Amino acid sequence: MPTEVLKAFCRIIRFYDLYLQCLKGQSSVSALFFEKSNMKKYVQDLRVVAKETPGSGYVLLKLSPLEGLLPEILPGQFVEILVPNADHTFLRRPISVNYVENNRLWLLIHEVGEGTRSLGRLEEGSLLNCVYPLGNGFSSPEEVGENVLLVGGGVGTAPLLHYGRCLHESGKHVTFLLGGRSGRDLMQLPEFEKWGRVCVTTEDGSLGERGFVTNHSVLQTEKFDTVAMCGPKPMMVAMARLSAELGISHVEASLENLMACGLGACLCCVEKTADGHNVCVCKEGPVFQTKDLSWLS
Ligand SMILES: Cc1cc2nc3c(=O)[nH]c(=O)nc-3n(C[C@H](O)[C@H](O)[C@H](O)COP(=O)(O)OP(=O)(O)OC[C@H]3O[C@@H](n4cnc5c(N)ncnc54)[C@H](O)[C@@H]3O)c2cc1C
Ligand code: FES
Repeated sequence: MPTEVLKAFCRIIRFYDLYLQCLKGQSSVSALFFEKSNMKKYVQDLRVVAKETPGSGYVLLKLSPLEGLLPEILPGQFVEILVPNADHTFLRRPISVNYVENNRLWLLIHEVGEGTRSLGRLEEGSLLNCVYPLGNGFSSPEEVGENVLLVGGGVGTAPLLHYGRCLHESGKHVTFLLGGRSGRDLMQLPEFEKWGRVCVTTEDGSLGERGFVTNHSVLQTEKFDTVAMCGPKPMMVAMARLSAELGISHVEASLENLMACGLGACLCCVEKTADGHNVCVCKEGPVFQTKDLSWLS
């Protein structure tokens, strides 16, 4: 896309964003601007009330509303964050909801570029303008059967913590299968252990079984009703194909495609479906049944 067209497009998105923030100013509570699946969406300043460094290059931010309670947030939903103090990152950055506890929303962030590095530099007390909760989220506990496998790769493990707790509290048997390049890439293991059995693979063998998540022995010894996953696309495609071979019919993936507008306008996040159509991951996802995507063909 020519640079001028791209700049003009970014300006339009930014104006829309400013409009949303104006709405926020007119409301006595937070701004509600559209509804999807009957859930209200908010544009709201959240305060960083705690900041932790769970690993080198990763930061865990815990955010609270300035007043009142957080709205209901479904596992697998995400937040679009306006990065403060960053000249070149005026498009919001999507980050999954990692966990919700004590009126705090957790975000686990891998610092990969200017936007996420700026988020990593925030201090406790900073304000973050967030649009949330966005996206459809994972299937509800009623839809997944009894024995659920949650597969995460790298920072893609983030949304599985909130989902694992939700499933555990609904009486489901939860197994987490978490993979990373090395043990340094796997975070929050004690948190995961509260909500289910934790199986680990690392490519260098420094933690758990050596190899990829698809090589883990638990896949040969246990039968799962549902697989839900988040992580690098090659991992999720391989896991979707293996799940099909194992006869698991309910398999869903939370996609982290590159996003620009986050509103369904720019088509930068599209994914191909099994019947040859395109879906917007930001608006129609991020969670999809893998049988509906083009991954298995
Ligand atoms: C629905 C959704 C949920 C997400 N949840 C999380 C999360 O919980 N924690 C987290 O750390 N990240 C998450 N991401 C990815 C995160 O949004 C990007 O890493 C971030 O936008 C990069 O911004 P940046 O300015 O730091 O990097 P940029 O300067 O924009 O990019 C830096 C490098 O990262 C690559 N990159 C950017 N976005 C992505 C992406 N989505 N996938 C792979 N590579 C990317 C770029 O191609 C470039 O090479 C999520 C993405 C989506 C779509
Ligand atoms: S990010 Fe623009 S359509 Fe999804």
